[in-house]
Amino acid sequence: MFLSMQGLVGAGVDEFVERAEWAQSTAHTASPSVEHDASHVPGYIPRVIDGVHSDIDILRQARTWRMHLIQSGPPGTGKTTAAQAAHGDELIIAACYDGMTTQDLVGQYLPEPGEAGVFRWVDGPLIEAMQRGRPLLLDDFGWMPPGVQATLLPALDHQRTVTVLDRPKEQTVKAAEGFSVIINVNPGVGFGITGPIRDRAAFELHVPVDLKAAEKLDVPRAFIGVAEELHNLAEAESVNGIHRWVPSMRSLLNARNLAVVFDEHFAASALVGECPAGEQRTKLQDLLVTHLELDTDVPEPLQSRSL
Ligand SMILES: Nc1ncnc2c1ncn2[C@@H]1O[C@H](COP(=O)(O)OP(=O)(O)O)[C@@H](O)[C@H]1O
Ligand SMILES: [Mg+2]
Repeated sequence: MFLSMQGLVGAGVDEFVERAEWAQSTAHTASPSVEHDASHVPGYIPRVIDGVHSDIDILRQARTWRMHLIQSGPPGTGKTTAAQAAHGDELIIAACYDGMTTQDLVGQYLPEPGEAGVFRWVDGPLIEAMQRGRPLLLDDFGWMPPGVQATLLPALDHQRTVTVLDRPKEQTVKAAEGFSVIINVNPGVGFGITGPIRDRAAFELHVPVDLKAAEKLDVPRAFIGVAEELHNLAEAESVNGIHRWVPSMRSLLNARNLAVVFDEHFAASALVGECPAGEQRTKLQDLLVTHLELDTDVPEPLQSRSL
């Protein structure tokens, strides 16, 4: 373990010992390849990243080696689930939103229930993850305002510290071994990732919709066929800067459930309702008619009408 850490070791002997002890105490670092059943999410289908490593393996190794990473991709492709599958209960999740403040990350004084006028300091997810040496998932990171993103900078570089002036305990918190950050983004949504944050991430993983995984998760064959055609079309068109709607993993799983509870036509109608009206919707309807062999019964968005 000591040997394998060579070259990545930081400043002093103390730090080296601290890291080595932590690495030794975590069983998963011993094996480079991760078995399917090692996932913390039952039924999660691991993906291969560079032809060698599984996504779960990469997420765990990144944590071991103090690397922060970005997972980017459209909604519902399994970014959140991948982080949960890799880290299980250890993962601390913070959902980002456009009105997010620094307090949402570092903590704040909150009223003590049942005691009028009494406020108590509560650490935020960043401080909690740093102190306890936990992986932190910043979900929908694109929505974190750039000013708040700046709070993360010293935590994400070699300093691994953050200073919170309001905090009644230590104002400067140093990250314990095991702290690392996973940034999930949907490209083109919200404020995006600022340059200095991007610079501090060791790498970016692109996570597209995995239709093979969808098939293994029992999404009806017809819907997979429709999704395949739309994805191919979207890929061809993206070269020309056209952005085409494609069904996400979540919509496909939803279609699977609706097909079981109601029927495939109902599921198809729900999918049509998700797709932007116009040429894109007409295309989707055409594909659904073909793949579901519907003839004239074109699925329309679900709508209640008087009997
Ligand atoms: N590889 C996979 N194996 C099993 N389920 C998956 C996989 N990828 C995605 N899913 C399922 O797809 C849905 C959306 O995943 P989620 O992680 O919430 O997406 P994202 O965070 O990218 O928006 C969830 O129900 C999840 O269980
Ligand atoms: Mg998510």
